Amino acid sequence: MRALVTGGAGFIGSHLVDRLAGDDGEVVVVDNLARGSTANLSGALASGRCELIECDVSDPRVGRLMMARSPDVVFHLAAQIDVRASVSDPVHDARVNVDGTVAVLDAARRAGVAQFVLASSVAIYGVTPTLPVTESAPTEPLSPYAASKLAGEIYLNQAGRLHGLPGTVLCFGNVYGPRQDAAGEAGVVAIFADALLNGRPSMVFGDGGNIRDYVYVADVVDALVRAGSQPGDGTRFNIGTGIGTSDLTLHGAVAEAVGIAQAPEFAPARPGDLRAMTLDATVAAQRLGWTPRTGLDEGLARTVAWARLQASVPDRG
Ligand SMILES: NC(=O)c1ccc[n+]([C@@H]2O[C@H](COP(=O)([O-])OP(=O)(O)OC[C@H]3O[C@@H](n4cnc5c(N)ncnc54)[C@H](O)[C@@H]3O)[C@@H](O)[C@H]2O)c1
Repeated sequence: MRALVTGGAGFIGSHLVDRLAGDDGEVVVVDNLARGSTANLSGALASGRCELIECDVSDPRVGRLMMARSPDVVFHLAAQIDVRASVSDPVHDARVNVDGTVAVLDAARRAGVAQFVLASSVAIYGVTPTLPVTESAPTEPLSPYAASKLAGEIYLNQAGRLHGLPGTVLCFGNVYGPRQDAAGEAGVVAIFADALLNGRPSMVFGDGGNIRDYVYVADVVDALVRAGSQPGDGTRFNIGTGIGTSDLTLHGAVAEAVGIAQAPEFAPARPGDLRAMTLDATVAAQRLGWTPRTGLDEGLARTVAWARLQASVPDRG
């Protein structure tokens, strides 16, 4: 499979690139390295099956690249992913997540790409009366980030109707795993692991009862590969476990994986934080044959092992 992966130097994208290159695919990565790194791609680049083009997704070079390489599938993962940054600078968020997505969609349909997979986010649903949330639930973006991710979905569907571009939307829960950036606000597993491994206090907002759906990155990559292997009709598939884990429970589980008994410190609840969110992935099971395979304990063990290597902290367990 010839694939073009935007955001391929980032957390989820680099795992996808490893998988595609490992399956004997040819992968072109488009990433401006705003957050991602070449270190994330070291294995794939060394394999000779991956090429990194360092440029912005809105750069006209992307259109020329798409024409020249004629990928079978485009995975669009490049994004501004920080919800709070989107609140403080919604214009930048829209430039990356709306303009950037429109540019990549346009380049893909001009090049006659056979399948376009778009990474979306659970954030599009907002407050929902029933959990786990299904794809038919109304959307209610509560942040510029959520609005820009939903706009990407609408543009993908529009490109399908107007130009016949086949596409699929994957709506991820809270993805965690090795290579997630602990400096960002999104990766709470990475943030907890980094603090606990380095002997710093770890912070829980509010009463610790907020609930999220944590899905391991290898399972997310499996969903991406499945979605990339068949032409889509614009359908959105939820990609989550359906299992809710509270912040306090997660903190305890990460501390256990690290091998220390450290209680979190409590900070005031953050305005706008959802109380609970979990995803119903029944449709992904039925139509993509996807189910999550990695339990939280196993996923946390792998994530902490990786974080320990980064921090060069000896195993205390
Ligand atoms: N991590 C999660 O929990 C999660 C949850 C839901 C949805 N998502 C979505 O999955 C995708 C990947 O997220 P991630 O966690 O791997 O984030 P990430 O920040 O690690 O990866 C994003 C990549 O995009 C690149 N990028 C950003 N702006 C760019 C631009 N203008 N041009 C080119 N490259 C650019 C960054 O350098 C980075 O490598 C995003 O679309 C995100 O919205 C992630």
